[in-house]
Amino acid sequence: MGEVRQKDKLAREVKSEMLETTPIWCRHHILDLDDFTPAEIELVLETTDAMKEVLSRSIKKVPALRGKTVITLFNESSTRTRSSFELAAKNLSADVISLSAQASSAVKGESLVDTIRTFEALGADIVVMRHSHSGAPYIAARHMQANMVNAGDGWHAHPTQALLDLYTIREHKISIKGLKVTIIGDIKHSRVARSNIWGLTAMGAEVSVCCPFTLLPAGLDIVGHHFPRVRIEPEIELALRGADVVMTLRLQHERQQSGLLPSIREYVKLYQLTEARLAQAKADAIVLHPGPVNEDIEISLAVAQGPKSVINEQITNGVAVRMALLYLLARGNRR
Ligand code: CP
Repeated sequence: MGEVRQKDKLAREVKSEMLETTPIWCRHHILDLDDFTPAEIELVLETTDAMKEVLSRSIKKVPALRGKTVITLFNESSTRTRSSFELAAKNLSADVISLSAQASSAVKGESLVDTIRTFEALGADIVVMRHSHSGAPYIAARHMQANMVNAGDGWHAHPTQALLDLYTIREHKISIKGLKVTIIGDIKHSRVARSNIWGLTAMGAEVSVCCPFTLLPAGLDIVGHHFPRVRIEPEIELALRGADVVMTLRLQHERQQSGLLPSIREYVKLYQLTEARLAQAKADAIVLHPGPVNEDIEISLAVAQGPKSVINEQITNGVAVRMALLYLLARGNRR
Protein backbone atom coordinates (compact mmCIF):
# COMPACT_ATOMS: atom_id res chain seq x y z
CA MET A 1 0.00 0.00 0.00
CA GLY A 2 1.39 3.45 -0.95
CA GLU A 3 2.45 5.85 1.81
CA VAL A 4 -0.35 8.31 0.99
CA ARG A 5 -3.03 5.58 1.12
CA GLN A 6 -1.60 4.28 4.39
CA LYS A 7 -1.78 7.80 5.85
CA ASP A 8 -5.38 8.16 4.63
CA LYS A 9 -6.30 4.83 6.24
CA LEU A 10 -4.67 5.87 9.53
CA ALA A 11 -6.48 9.22 9.43
CA ARG A 12 -9.84 7.47 8.89
CA GLU A 13 -9.16 5.04 11.74
CA VAL A 14 -8.20 7.86 14.15
CA LYS A 15 -11.29 9.87 13.21
CA SER A 16 -13.70 6.97 13.55
CA GLU A 17 -12.15 5.99 16.92
CA MET A 18 -12.71 9.55 18.17
CA LEU A 19 -16.16 9.98 16.65
CA GLU A 20 -17.47 6.73 18.13
CA THR A 21 -17.63 8.60 21.43
CA THR A 22 -18.60 11.99 19.99
CA PRO A 23 -21.52 13.52 21.87
CA ILE A 24 -24.11 15.75 20.28
CA TRP A 25 -22.73 19.26 20.70
CA CYS A 26 -24.27 20.57 23.92
CA ARG A 27 -21.87 23.38 24.78
CA HIS A 28 -23.47 26.81 25.12
CA HIS A 29 -20.28 28.85 25.59
CA ILE A 30 -16.65 28.38 24.54
CA LEU A 31 -14.57 29.71 27.40
CA ASP A 32 -11.50 27.43 27.54
CA LEU A 33 -10.46 23.91 26.55
CA ASP A 34 -9.92 22.71 30.14
CA ASP A 35 -13.23 20.80 30.11
CA PHE A 36 -13.32 19.75 26.44
CA THR A 37 -13.31 16.01 25.86
CA PRO A 38 -11.17 14.53 23.05
CA ALA A 39 -14.42 13.69 21.23
CA GLU A 40 -15.60 17.30 21.38
CA ILE A 41 -12.25 18.53 20.06
CA GLU A 42 -12.45 15.94 17.29
CA LEU A 43 -15.96 17.17 16.42
CA VAL A 44 -14.60 20.73 16.06
CA LEU A 45 -11.75 19.47 13.85
CA GLU A 46 -14.14 17.41 11.69
CA THR A 47 -16.48 20.39 11.32
CA THR A 48 -13.47 22.52 10.36
CA ASP A 49 -12.73 20.06 7.52
CA ALA A 50 -16.22 20.80 6.17
CA MET A 51 -15.67 24.55 6.52
CA LYS A 52 -12.36 24.31 4.66
CA GLU A 53 -14.24 22.70 1.81
CA VAL A 54 -16.61 25.70 1.79
CA LEU A 55 -13.61 28.05 1.73
CA SER A 56 -12.18 26.22 -1.29
CA ARG A 57 -15.23 27.16 -3.40
CA SER A 58 -15.28 30.23 -5.63
CA ILE A 59 -18.17 31.62 -3.54
CA LYS A 60 -17.11 31.13 0.08
CA LYS A 61 -20.51 31.66 1.62
CA VAL A 62 -23.17 29.36 3.06
CA PRO A 63 -26.47 30.31 4.71
CA ALA A 64 -25.89 28.42 8.00
CA LEU A 65 -26.16 31.54 10.21
CA ARG A 66 -28.62 33.53 8.09
CA GLY A 67 -30.83 35.56 10.43
CA LYS A 68 -28.35 35.25 13.32
CA THR A 69 -26.47 38.20 14.79
CA VAL A 70 -22.85 37.91 15.88
CA ILE A 71 -21.32 40.76 17.89
CA THR A 72 -17.56 40.97 18.44
CA LEU A 73 -16.32 43.07 21.35
CA PHE A 74 -12.56 43.58 21.64
CA ASN A 75 -11.08 45.67 24.44
CA GLU A 76 -7.56 44.61 23.44
CA SER A 77 -5.87 44.94 20.09
CA SER A 78 -6.07 42.04 17.65
CA THR A 79 -5.38 41.47 13.99
CA ARG A 80 -5.84 37.73 13.43
CA THR A 81 -8.57 36.76 15.86
CA ARG A 82 -10.84 39.71 15.23
CA SER A 83 -10.63 39.68 11.47
CA SER A 84 -10.96 35.90 11.23
CA PHE A 85 -14.05 35.85 13.47
CA GLU A 86 -15.63 38.59 11.35
CA LEU A 87 -14.83 36.74 8.14
CA ALA A 88 -16.07 33.46 9.63
CA ALA A 89 -19.40 34.97 10.68
CA LYS A 90 -19.85 36.69 7.30
CA ASN A 91 -18.99 33.49 5.42
CA LEU A 92 -21.83 31.83 7.35
CA SER A 93 -24.19 34.70 6.34
CA ALA A 94 -24.60 36.10 9.87
CA ASP A 95 -25.22 39.79 10.52
CA VAL A 96 -22.03 41.04 12.15
CA ILE A 97 -21.43 44.02 14.43
CA SER A 98 -17.85 44.73 15.48
CA LEU A 99 -17.11 46.96 18.41
CA SER A 100 -13.91 47.93 20.15
CA ALA A 101 -14.33 48.72 23.83
CA GLN A 102 -12.64 52.09 23.23
CA ALA A 103 -15.49 53.01 20.88
CA SER A 104 -18.24 51.63 23.15
CA SER A 105 -20.06 53.20 26.08
CA ALA A 106 -17.55 51.42 28.36
CA VAL A 107 -15.53 54.67 28.15
CA LYS A 108 -18.56 56.46 29.65
CA GLY A 109 -18.64 54.03 32.57
CA GLU A 110 -20.97 51.32 31.26
CA SER A 111 -20.22 48.01 33.01
CA LEU A 112 -19.38 44.84 31.13
CA VAL A 113 -22.65 43.25 32.27
CA ASP A 114 -24.63 46.27 31.01
CA THR A 115 -22.83 46.05 27.67
CA ILE A 116 -23.75 42.38 27.38
CA ARG A 117 -27.39 43.07 28.33
CA THR A 118 -27.46 45.80 25.67
CA PHE A 119 -26.17 43.32 23.07
CA GLU A 120 -28.93 40.88 24.02
CA ALA A 121 -31.57 43.61 23.82
CA LEU A 122 -30.27 44.28 20.31
CA GLY A 123 -30.82 40.61 19.43
CA ALA A 124 -27.28 39.18 19.65
CA ASP A 125 -27.18 35.42 19.24
CA ILE A 126 -23.41 34.99 19.68
CA VAL A 127 -20.95 37.36 21.40
CA VAL A 128 -17.23 37.00 20.70
CA MET A 129 -15.18 38.80 23.32
CA ARG A 130 -11.52 39.59 23.92
CA HIS A 131 -10.76 41.17 27.27
CA SER A 132 -7.57 42.18 29.04
CA HIS A 133 -8.88 40.80 32.36
CA SER A 134 -8.67 37.04 32.94
CA GLY A 135 -12.14 35.67 33.65
CA ALA A 136 -14.12 38.54 32.07
CA PRO A 137 -15.87 36.23 29.52
CA TYR A 138 -16.91 33.93 32.39
CA ILE A 139 -18.57 36.84 34.21
CA ALA A 140 -20.30 37.98 31.03
CA ALA A 141 -21.45 34.42 30.24
CA ARG A 142 -23.26 34.22 33.59
CA HIS A 143 -25.44 37.15 32.57
CA MET A 144 -26.42 36.14 29.06
CA GLN A 145 -28.58 33.68 27.20
CA ALA A 146 -26.67 34.22 23.96
CA ASN A 147 -23.53 32.17 23.30
CA MET A 148 -20.20 33.56 24.52
CA VAL A 149 -16.93 32.82 22.75
CA ASN A 150 -13.74 33.75 24.56
CA ALA A 151 -11.39 35.34 22.01
CA GLY A 152 -8.63 35.67 24.61
CA ASP A 153 -8.86 36.83 28.25
CA GLY A 154 -5.81 38.25 29.99
CA TRP A 155 -3.19 35.59 30.67
CA HIS A 156 -5.87 32.95 31.08
CA ALA A 157 -7.19 31.31 27.91
CA HIS A 158 -7.39 31.55 24.14
CA PRO A 159 -9.37 28.44 23.22
CA THR A 160 -10.00 29.24 19.56
CA GLN A 161 -6.27 29.80 18.98
CA ALA A 162 -5.51 26.42 20.55
CA LEU A 163 -8.14 24.74 18.37
CA LEU A 164 -6.67 26.24 15.20
CA ASP A 165 -3.23 25.13 16.38
CA LEU A 166 -4.55 21.58 16.92
CA TYR A 167 -6.15 21.63 13.48
CA THR A 168 -2.94 22.83 11.83
CA ILE A 169 -0.91 20.16 13.63
CA ARG A 170 -3.40 17.46 12.63
CA GLU A 171 -3.21 18.53 8.98
CA HIS A 172 0.51 17.78 9.03
CA LYS A 173 0.73 14.89 11.48
CA ILE A 174 -2.67 13.14 11.03
CA SER A 175 -2.93 12.13 14.68
CA ILE A 176 -2.01 14.32 17.64
CA LYS A 177 -1.82 11.32 19.98
CA GLY A 178 1.78 10.53 20.98
CA LEU A 179 3.32 13.62 19.36
CA LYS A 180 6.12 15.37 21.23
CA VAL A 181 5.22 19.05 21.37
CA THR A 182 7.67 21.63 22.75
CA ILE A 183 6.35 25.06 23.74
CA ILE A 184 9.10 27.69 24.10
CA GLY A 185 8.74 31.17 25.55
CA ASP A 186 6.81 33.24 28.01
CA ILE A 187 4.52 30.52 29.36
CA LYS A 188 3.60 32.53 32.46
CA HIS A 189 1.83 35.32 30.59
CA SER A 190 0.57 33.21 27.68
CA ARG A 191 -3.12 32.38 27.33
CA VAL A 192 -2.16 30.57 24.11
CA ALA A 193 0.17 28.22 26.03
CA ARG A 194 -2.42 27.49 28.71
CA SER A 195 -5.21 26.58 26.27
CA ASN A 196 -2.79 24.58 24.13
CA ILE A 197 -1.57 22.59 27.14
CA TRP A 198 -5.19 21.57 27.85
CA GLY A 199 -6.03 20.79 24.24
CA LEU A 200 -2.81 18.98 23.35
CA THR A 201 -2.80 16.79 26.45
CA ALA A 202 -6.51 15.97 25.98
CA MET A 203 -5.61 14.72 22.49
CA GLY A 204 -2.76 12.59 23.83
CA ALA A 205 0.31 14.69 22.99
CA GLU A 206 3.36 14.79 25.26
CA VAL A 207 3.96 18.45 26.05
CA SER A 208 7.27 19.99 27.15
CA VAL A 209 7.65 23.63 28.12
CA CYS A 210 10.90 25.55 27.90
CA CYS A 211 11.55 29.00 29.37
CA PRO A 212 13.47 30.77 32.13
CA PHE A 213 12.02 29.83 35.54
CA THR A 214 10.82 33.45 35.95
CA LEU A 215 8.48 32.93 32.97
CA LEU A 216 6.99 29.67 34.27
CA PRO A 217 3.48 29.88 35.80
CA ALA A 218 3.11 28.94 39.45
CA GLY A 219 1.53 25.48 39.80
CA LEU A 220 2.66 24.13 36.42
CA ASP A 221 4.70 21.49 38.25
CA ILE A 222 1.79 20.47 40.51
CA VAL A 223 -0.10 17.82 38.55
CA GLY A 224 -3.86 18.04 38.91
CA HIS A 225 -3.70 21.46 40.57
CA HIS A 226 -3.87 23.98 37.71
CA PHE A 227 -2.58 22.06 34.72
CA PRO A 228 -2.34 18.62 33.23
CA ARG A 229 1.08 16.91 33.25
CA VAL A 230 3.80 18.65 31.24
CA ARG A 231 7.58 18.22 31.19
CA ILE A 232 9.52 21.30 32.27
CA GLU A 233 12.89 21.59 30.48
CA PRO A 234 14.73 24.93 30.73
CA GLU A 235 17.58 23.86 28.40
CA ILE A 236 16.34 24.61 24.90
CA GLU A 237 18.50 22.03 23.12
CA LEU A 238 17.17 19.28 25.42
CA ALA A 239 13.59 20.53 25.12
CA LEU A 240 13.79 20.40 21.32
CA ARG A 241 15.40 16.98 21.06
CA GLY A 242 13.07 14.64 19.12
CA ALA A 243 10.19 17.14 18.97
CA ASP A 244 7.49 16.64 16.31
CA VAL A 245 6.02 20.07 16.85
CA VAL A 246 7.68 23.25 18.13
CA MET A 247 5.56 26.16 19.27
CA THR A 248 7.21 29.49 20.01
CA LEU A 249 5.43 32.28 21.86
CA ARG A 250 5.66 36.02 21.51
CA LEU A 251 7.93 37.62 24.07
CA GLN A 252 5.57 40.34 25.21
CA HIS A 253 7.27 43.77 25.10
CA GLU A 254 6.04 44.68 28.56
CA ARG A 255 7.93 41.69 30.07
CA GLN A 256 11.20 43.10 28.83
CA GLN A 257 10.99 45.89 31.41
CA SER A 258 9.36 43.84 34.16
CA GLY A 259 12.48 42.47 35.84
CA LEU A 260 11.61 38.90 34.84
CA LEU A 261 14.44 38.85 32.29
CA PRO A 262 18.00 40.07 32.84
CA SER A 263 18.00 41.49 29.31
CA ILE A 264 16.43 40.87 25.95
CA ARG A 265 19.89 40.06 24.57
CA GLU A 266 20.29 37.25 27.08
CA TYR A 267 16.83 35.89 26.29
CA VAL A 268 17.65 35.87 22.57
CA LYS A 269 20.95 34.12 23.27
CA LEU A 270 19.39 31.39 25.42
CA TYR A 271 15.88 30.91 24.02
CA GLN A 272 15.59 32.13 20.43
CA LEU A 273 14.48 29.35 18.06
CA THR A 274 17.27 29.29 15.48
CA GLU A 275 17.90 26.92 12.59
CA ALA A 276 20.82 25.37 14.49
CA ARG A 277 18.63 24.65 17.53
CA LEU A 278 15.72 23.41 15.41
CA ALA A 279 18.06 20.74 14.03
CA GLN A 280 17.58 18.96 17.41
CA ALA A 281 13.91 18.36 16.54
CA LYS A 282 12.75 15.60 14.19
CA ALA A 283 13.56 16.10 10.49
CA ASP A 284 9.85 16.53 9.70
CA ALA A 285 9.11 18.80 12.67
CA ILE A 286 6.81 21.78 12.13
CA VAL A 287 7.06 25.22 13.76
CA LEU A 288 4.05 27.17 15.02
CA HIS A 289 3.71 30.69 16.40
CA PRO A 290 0.36 32.27 17.32
CA GLY A 291 1.52 35.73 16.19
CA PRO A 292 2.23 38.51 16.23
CA VAL A 293 5.87 37.48 15.74
CA ASN A 294 8.81 39.48 17.09
CA GLU A 295 11.22 38.49 14.35
CA ASP A 296 14.73 37.71 15.56
CA ILE A 297 13.61 37.85 19.22
CA GLU A 298 11.78 34.59 20.11
CA ILE A 299 12.28 33.12 16.62
CA SER A 300 14.85 33.84 13.92
CA LEU A 301 13.56 35.26 10.67
CA ALA A 302 15.04 32.24 8.87
CA VAL A 303 12.96 29.81 10.94
CA ALA A 304 9.79 31.96 10.88
CA GLN A 305 9.92 32.10 7.09
CA GLY A 306 11.59 28.72 6.58
CA PRO A 307 10.20 25.44 5.20
CA LYS A 308 9.19 24.06 8.61
CA SER A 309 7.10 27.11 9.52
CA VAL A 310 3.31 26.71 9.38
CA ILE A 311 2.61 30.19 10.76
CA ASN A 312 0.67 31.37 7.70
CA GLU A 313 -1.34 28.14 7.66
CA GLN A 314 -2.34 28.82 11.27
CA ILE A 315 -3.72 32.22 10.24
CA THR A 316 -5.61 30.73 7.27
CA ASN A 317 -7.02 27.87 9.37
CA GLY A 318 -8.28 30.40 11.92
CA VAL A 319 -11.18 31.31 9.63
CA ALA A 320 -12.33 27.70 9.10
CA VAL A 321 -11.99 26.78 12.79
CA ARG A 322 -13.99 29.84 13.84
CA MET A 323 -16.64 29.08 11.20
CA ALA A 324 -16.89 25.58 12.70
CA LEU A 325 -17.29 26.94 16.23
CA LEU A 326 -19.92 29.53 15.27
CA TYR A 327 -21.77 26.85 13.31
CA LEU A 328 -21.73 24.36 16.22
CA LEU A 329 -22.92 27.00 18.69
CA ALA A 330 -25.70 28.25 16.39
CA ARG A 331 -26.86 24.71 15.62
CA GLY A 332 -27.25 24.02 19.31
CA ASN A 333 -28.85 27.38 19.99
CA ARG A 334 -32.55 26.79 20.70
CA ARG A 335 -33.45 30.39 21.51
N1 CP B 1 -2.93 34.98 17.92
C1 CP B 1 -3.66 36.07 18.18
O1 CP B 1 -4.48 36.07 19.08
O2 CP B 1 -3.38 37.15 17.39
P1 CP B 1 -4.13 38.55 17.44
O3 CP B 1 -3.77 39.20 18.76
O4 CP B 1 -3.61 39.32 16.25
O5 CP B 1 -5.60 38.29 17.38
